[in-house]
Amino acid sequence: MVQYDFSGQVAFVTGAAHGQGRSHAQHYAKHGADVVVTDIGHNVETVPYDLGTGDELDETASIVEDEGQEALAIEMDVRDGSQVEAAVEEAIDEFGRIDILANNAGIESMAHAVEMDEMTWDEMIDTNLKGVWLAAKHVGKHFIDRGDGGKIVSTASTAGAVGIPSNAHYVSAKHGVVGLTKTLALELAEYDVNVNCIGPTGVDTPMISGMTEAYGDEVLEDIGAMTGPWNVFGDGGMIEARDISEAYLWLSSDAARYVTGIYLPVDAGFLAK
Ligand SMILES: NC(=O)c1ccc[n+]([C@@H]2O[C@H](COP(=O)([O-])OP(=O)(O)OC[C@H]3O[C@@H](n4cnc5c(N)ncnc54)[C@H](O)[C@@H]3O)[C@@H](O)[C@H]2O)c1
Repeated sequence: MVQYDFSGQVAFVTGAAHGQGRSHAQHYAKHGADVVVTDIGHNVETVPYDLGTGDELDETASIVEDEGQEALAIEMDVRDGSQVEAAVEEAIDEFGRIDILANNAGIESMAHAVEMDEMTWDEMIDTNLKGVWLAAKHVGKHFIDRGDGGKIVSTASTAGAVGIPSNAHYVSAKHGVVGLTKTLALELAEYDVNVNCIGPTGVDTPMISGMTEAYGDEVLEDIGAMTGPWNVFGDGGMIEARDISEAYLWLSSDAARYVTGIYLPVDAGFLAK
């Protein structure tokens, strides 16, 4: 494992109750950061699987503490600017600063674009795109006020680079994250803030198991027939949350100080096909 030193730094992770967000929180703590773990803590109408719970969020906080770092758990919906602003303020009250924003929260659902209802579209864009902007807006303001830089890393997806059937809303949101990342990188460069995003291929998390349960293997296989395997190695299966956490660590570190505005695929060759 590559060693980083985030001691004295504070990471603010969205969608940290389980899945990749929990892994990112643990990885930041393992490398010396205190971590603010945030999550919506309840289900939403258009998503057919369980989102994170308040209890799971508390478990993530315990995992951070078990790594010897301080944790603060806040239930917060990334779609709501006032909740995001209040959570950022609470984090700064508690720790005095935020150094890293890990913009990870996200949802999935499936429907053909011509059959999709507006609520499904809106909930997706509000969560997976507007939510990323809102967290970057409020943490970005703090970075500017404080005046000594910062890091914003967001999770896009391979869906930020290609079309995926039955995912027009998700693909549009994730392409939006790539554009938002480039623009924020230019706007925040003068404040020494690096802004980057990551494009994971299929990652083994509650999102994927929930989607498989809700829509069935056949639907996902139909999509796979059009997009090709998620992974060109081995059996073509999913990668793990820790593979994405490692990219978060690098992009949050000084080792990547001249990396900004990029979309970094961690895709096991998905986009090379
Ligand atoms: N799992 C994959 O295959 C995969 C692939 C590419 C990209 N991604 C992206 O990775 C990120 C993490 O996904 P995951 O696989 O860990 O999913 P997950 O469902 O396991 O975890 C996502 C977390 O985000 C939280 N969340 C959802 N809506 C929220 C909101 N409005 N406010 C705050 N928190 C909210 C959920 O409660 C949950 O804890 C997402 O942005 C997802 O789109 C996932």
